Amino acid sequence: MQYLTLSNNKKIPAIGYGTYKSQGDDAKQGTIKALIAGYRLIDTAAFYANEKQIGEAIKEAQETLQIKREDIFLTSKVWNTDRGYENTIKAFNKTIKELDQEYLDLYLIHWPASQHQFDNWEEINTSTWQAMTDLCKDGRIRAIGVCNCKPHHLEALMQTEIKPMVNQIEYRAGFTQKETADYCKQNNIRLQAWTPLGRGQILNDEHIQKTADKYNKTPAQIAIRFCIDTGVIPLPKSTHEDRIKENLNVFDFALTQDDIDELNKVPVPEGKTHDPDLIDF
Ligand code: A2P
Repeated sequence: MQYLTLSNNKKIPAIGYGTYKSQGDDAKQGTIKALIAGYRLIDTAAFYANEKQIGEAIKEAQETLQIKREDIFLTSKVWNTDRGYENTIKAFNKTIKELDQEYLDLYLIHWPASQHQFDNWEEINTSTWQAMTDLCKDGRIRAIGVCNCKPHHLEALMQTEIKPMVNQIEYRAGFTQKETADYCKQNNIRLQAWTPLGRGQILNDEHIQKTADKYNKTPAQIAIRFCIDTGVIPLPKSTHEDRIKENLNVFDFALTQDDIDELNKVPVPEGKTHDPDLIDF
């Protein structure tokens, strides 16, 4: 596993295992397979309704695979209905209980409150952030951050005592949210990519196929490497053992700037992306 660092100097794996839509025993077994394959970052969320199974997988990996808890980087997220100071503390306590863990490595705001839904959106976000800050200071979370934030959502949080260390955004070849990505890089906020494979739908794209042929790699490996080579931590999802392994087998080659330029031509499927300023959930 390769590692990067966060602004608080904590190490973070360069790739993680995504668990959205993975439910019940599939979530548990998928996470165990991922840990056996070598993933050390596991990404869940209260909204995914699989924290219990992820926690069980981590316990099992500790007991049967002798993987130490401190070698696993565990992320969860506070859901939209739990924004605000008190609710966030409660949501965190529920998450920790579901996961049966003493601490989280990373806790994220799942979606920022936006102007589209709330007049006092900025105040909501800063009070959620204050709760995350206090939990971090208490040592119950090692690092804190956000998801789906654009620069205008981040600005108020950048003025606080502990600044966001991560922004997990929708990101993939052809959809890189340049303004947000540039802002995060300039402000030392580490980017993570959700749907780095475009839910599997970009894998037949001609630009990805062409690059895959060039390196004798699979389209998924090219899409994952696109994230890594543009400085973003990909969180690919799969419950299939062969794909879980395939998606991690990306550290024996690197893309050139020409390849990245080629992959930036992947078209964005219409109506498939989520704008945090327009969501209705
Ligand atoms: P499955 O879970 O059946 O393996 P994303 O991470 O962008 O959300 O994409 C997840 C989707 O991509 C899932 O439908 C997953 O299917 C599919 N997928 C994951 N890894 C691969 C792979 N190596 N090759 C093809 N499809 C993959």
